Amino acid sequence: MRAPLIVGIGGTPRPTSTTECALVTALAGAKADGARTALFGGAYLARLPLYLTPESESAGWEMIEAVRKADGLIIASPGYHGTVSGMVKNALDYLEATAGDPRPYLDGLPVGLIATAFGWQATGGVLTTLRSIIHALRGWPTPYGAAINAKTVTFADGGCTDLEVNAQLCRVGRQVTEHAGLRLRDPAHARLERESLRLNLLLAEGEHGVAG
Ligand SMILES: Cc1cc2nc3c(=O)[nH]c(=O)nc-3n(C[C@H](O)[C@H](O)[C@H](O)COP(=O)(O)O)c2cc1C
Repeated sequence: MRAPLIVGIGGTPRPTSTTECALVTALAGAKADGARTALFGGAYLARLPLYLTPESESAGWEMIEAVRKADGLIIASPGYHGTVSGMVKNALDYLEATAGDPRPYLDGLPVGLIATAFGWQATGGVLTTLRSIIHALRGWPTPYGAAINAKTVTFADGGCTDLEVNAQLCRVGRQVTEHAGLRLRDPAHARLERESLRLNLLLAEGEHGVAG
């Protein structure tokens, strides 16, 4: 079985973004369980033009291609005014480019979720909103979502100084890797994936009126 590819998307443009550090820690948890990982952090997301503006047409393709190849994702957003940040949502809007793919959006993929905020209140709302977004994108939010209070934690040397928070973030990475591995190992999955690819292609042909 090939090692699953887990793609991380999230962070803020701040160089010491707690959100991005949390995401990197969760990806390390995935790596420790044998996953390959790719990160699209705050600096990358901050360069993405607003989706559907003319400038966005040639942007974001590295992230879109990585998502197409991914076996699982981890999304990390700060709480901005009680909800997901505009920058993270803009990045997720780019996944609309996969709508016509044989595997559209995040169809069938496990997705781990992380919310940070300056206090606890916004973290719950952000996790709930991220779960709704992932459902809309046909992904499977993994059972454990990490809520991080940025007021009380610091990150150093690729991990959180609070060992409990560190363990929570690694759990997010591990749950995504475990689910991705189950899918890759399951012979029925390969058959179902082939059938779903065929169905999606048929639907796409129907929608676009392709004869034959
Ligand atoms: C525009 C803006 C809005 C914010 N709104 C909230 C909020 O509603 N509740 C909250 O607890 N923190 C809020 N914060 C704080 C961030 O959620 C918090 O600092 C988060 O952990 C992001 O940190 P990072 O830049 O280190 O990744 C806000 C920050 C900004 C810049």
